[in-house]
Amino acid sequence: MQLVIESDGKRELVETPDLEVETSVQIDAFRKDLLLVKDASEEIYAIENYCPHAIQTLTDGEVFGSMIKCKKHGAVFSLVDGRCIGNERIGNLKKYPASVVDGAVIVKL
Ligand code: FES
Repeated sequence: MQLVIESDGKRELVETPDLEVETSVQIDAFRKDLLLVKDASEEIYAIENYCPHAIQTLTDGEVFGSMIKCKKHGAVFSLVDGRCIGNERIGNLKKYPASVVDGAVIVKL
């Protein structure tokens, strides 16, 4: 899968393995640790790769429906709006706009 990361008018091209439904892949671009996630309805999301609860990466977090679960303490976040489900005291995920254009995923930082 071809991934284009855009930041401040610059572009970085990244080749990643194709994402299966309810999986994620970690990406480094523009000195950021990102996670690209495909949910159950094949929507693709780009999020900062850390859990706001205790600064744990979300790599290997369980993806189900349109949510991701942190493997460390089990916080669940909506991929749609970044909210932590069931515990408002945990902050939200940082999300970046992602879209698919001509088969390539475009993420804007
Ligand atoms: S570090 Fe993610 S839930 Fe605690």
